[in-house]
Amino acid sequence: MILVTGATGALGAATIDFLLEKTPASNIAALVRDEAKAAPLKEKGIEIRIGNYDDVPSMVKAFQGVDKLLFVSGSEIENRSEQHRNVVDAAKQANVGHVVYTSFVRRNETETSPITFVAKSHLDAEAALKASGLSYTLLKNGLYMDMLPYFLGQQVIETGVVFQPAGDGQAAFVLRNDLAEAAANVLTTEGHEGKSYDLPGAVPITYSEVAATLSKIAGKEIAYISPTQEVYRAEMTKAGVPEMYIGMFGAFAEAIRQGEFEDAGGDLPKLLGRQPVAPADYLKQVYGN
Ligand SMILES: NC(=O)c1ccc[n+]([C@@H]2O[C@H](COP(=O)([O-])OP(=O)(O)OC[C@H]3O[C@@H](n4cnc5c(N)ncnc54)[C@H](OP(=O)(O)O)[C@@H]3O)[C@@H](O)[C@H]2O)c1
Repeated sequence: MILVTGATGALGAATIDFLLEKTPASNIAALVRDEAKAAPLKEKGIEIRIGNYDDVPSMVKAFQGVDKLLFVSGSEIENRSEQHRNVVDAAKQANVGHVVYTSFVRRNETETSPITFVAKSHLDAEAALKASGLSYTLLKNGLYMDMLPYFLGQQVIETGVVFQPAGDGQAAFVLRNDLAEAAANVLTTEGHEGKSYDLPGAVPITYSEVAATLSKIAGKEIAYISPTQEVYRAEMTKAGVPEMYIGMFGAFAEAIRQGEFEDAGGDLPKLLGRQPVAPADYLKQVYGN
């Protein structure tokens, strides 16, 4: 039995769809915390197990008989470290055969990283897994390409400006769907025990190049402006962007400026058996008509 956590989220749900191409639905279970959100999974014949990362006993029960667990990192940043340790603890108590964890690609593992607020709980999860004695695989997922429309803003073509405090930093964005397919491949093949896979995209790209690509797609000039963090913050506040997003987007831009996501290539082509989707193709898909 393969159990996927975060199965009501984008990555977990997409991984289940790829798993269904490789193994019968009767081999797949999903951990969900809100049964109402599980209807689409039930329709596909997936067994629903209820559990919450805050509640170890609920997960110990849900993880019974699981050979392979896809542990999707949580989305509640504030208490994620504790939640991640809870998942590992429950997997250990339930004698799960193998845990595949969706971690995060990075260069800077210290608290000087602008994105330490997300990185810390991944490092904690990895440490907990290593200390647990469980068999595990680490999927060090790159920065989602799917975040680009949020970073760029819905109106980027209309305004004609890519406005990100990222300087000339490059980032090897990766499509979440490609990461889901890779996860499904790892869950349905052997030989991944103790392995750690770096999963950035294939093509590192600057926001200058993003703007040039958008210019071609839109048939009009899209400029790139890299403001200071202070000016970025002020302009986003003026535009009515919620404080939480301004802080998060500004931090990711700073991480990109520092080269945190610059490394490209990695293990994704090997896990997919093809090249991952390139940013230019993705941008065409999102902004082309
Ligand atoms: N690499 C990147 O660029 C990047 C970007 C964003 C996020 N991430 C990480 O990758 C993960 C998967 O991405 P995604 O796009 O699939 O995120 P998502 O759509 O927000 O899915 C997160 C999933 O985790 C579940 N979850 C959150 N807290 C939980 C808890 N306390 N107990 C049980 N389940 C819980 C959510 O359940 P509900 O449906 O009930 O909320 C949801 O199913 C995220 O959670 C985050 O850790 C990575």
